Amino acid sequence: MPCDGEHECMKRRLCLVLGSALALLSAAPQGSGIPTTREDHMQMTVRLPAAPSDRERGAEIVAAARRVMARFPTVEAAERAGFKKFLPGISLPMEHYTNGWWAAEAWFGNFDLDHPTSLLFKRTASGLTPIGVMYTASNSADEAELNRRIPLSLGTWHRHTDDCAPPSGTPIAEQLPPNARFGLEGSITTKSACEAAGGTFHPIVFGWMIHVYPNESDPGKIWAVDMGGSMHHHHGESDAGVTGTPIAYNGLPIPLDKLPSLAVAGGDPRSGAIVFANNCQSCHGIGGREGPDAPELAGSSLAPGQVAFMVRKPRAIDPKSPMPALPLDDRELADVAAFVSGLR
Ligand code: HEC
Repeated sequence: MPCDGEHECMKRRLCLVLGSALALLSAAPQGSGIPTTREDHMQMTVRLPAAPSDRERGAEIVAAARRVMARFPTVEAAERAGFKKFLPGISLPMEHYTNGWWAAEAWFGNFDLDHPTSLLFKRTASGLTPIGVMYTASNSADEAELNRRIPLSLGTWHRHTDDCAPPSGTPIAEQLPPNARFGLEGSITTKSACEAAGGTFHPIVFGWMIHVYPNESDPGKIWAVDMGGSMHHHHGESDAGVTGTPIAYNGLPIPLDKLPSLAVAGGDPRSGAIVFANNCQSCHGIGGREGPDAPELAGSSLAPGQVAFMVRKPRAIDPKSPMPALPLDDRELADVAAFVSGLR
């Protein structure tokens, strides 16, 4: 993968260093039943339907993140309070300043919104500006624990996975994009391939992380996985109106009154969220918003039967539709229809 632009390349380098040079904290169990999707080097939670209290919780989180940023408006203020730059000596477009005590608190279970693990500063022409905070959880956290911290309906918890640390003496060209083999941007993603290449495989690097950018005016960006980055832009991001700001809705290419219904059983939206993440989100975006290759489904008032029709017969109305026929069974169809029709 080529990296275009200086920032992108620097970010890749960060990932590389992360992947190959740091002490690793984890040999923890991989799944613990948390609904996630995976891609190379990254595991991300699925955007679940919101519980009634999630909206209020979202507002609390945003308010706390703003409070913390007001306490540490500059890097100097953060350093005076004991925050340390992650990867000292390497200048990055976005810097993490980490508080070891707060990191330990979060790791050992004492979660406090006023004690994020890291402060995020963006490099601008006028210096480093605070843009957000990062909360964390240990790899032993289960779904209920992640939800208690930041609900899965609001943000995307993620962790770095499948790291192949290079053997010593590996040429730098094999560690850096565009032709990296090792590290979190490398082409090696499995234990067997890593061992065959003489590297050391780490299934999980660090723990669960989640970024919050409370001052973004576009609510979709408040919970972005990777702000300003292109690594994960194709997932789309959203916050389902947590800040109270309605998200502009541009309508569907096939208008609702032109889309027939298919009889479909009642489904479970939670299971549907997982079906959606695995089959639909790459085009339609996380939570059906801001997808790179397909219209916004959230807020569309689609009936479950209309979703089912589109999934079963994507080319019935528009023979040139790029939407593929997906091999879902009837249960999955009912569940995903329930999930999509409930997206607000
Ligand atoms: C490869 C990309 C892609 C995938 C994967 C995909 N879609 Fe779509 N989908 C589209 C596109 C593009 C459209 C726009 C309508 C068209 O071009 O026919 C669309 C339209 C829709 C519509 C609305 C039709 C309308 O305009 O009224 C629904 C509902 C829908 N998709 C549901 C789903 C569901 C549910 C899944 C997963 C099971 C899914 N899609 C997977 C690309 C995709």
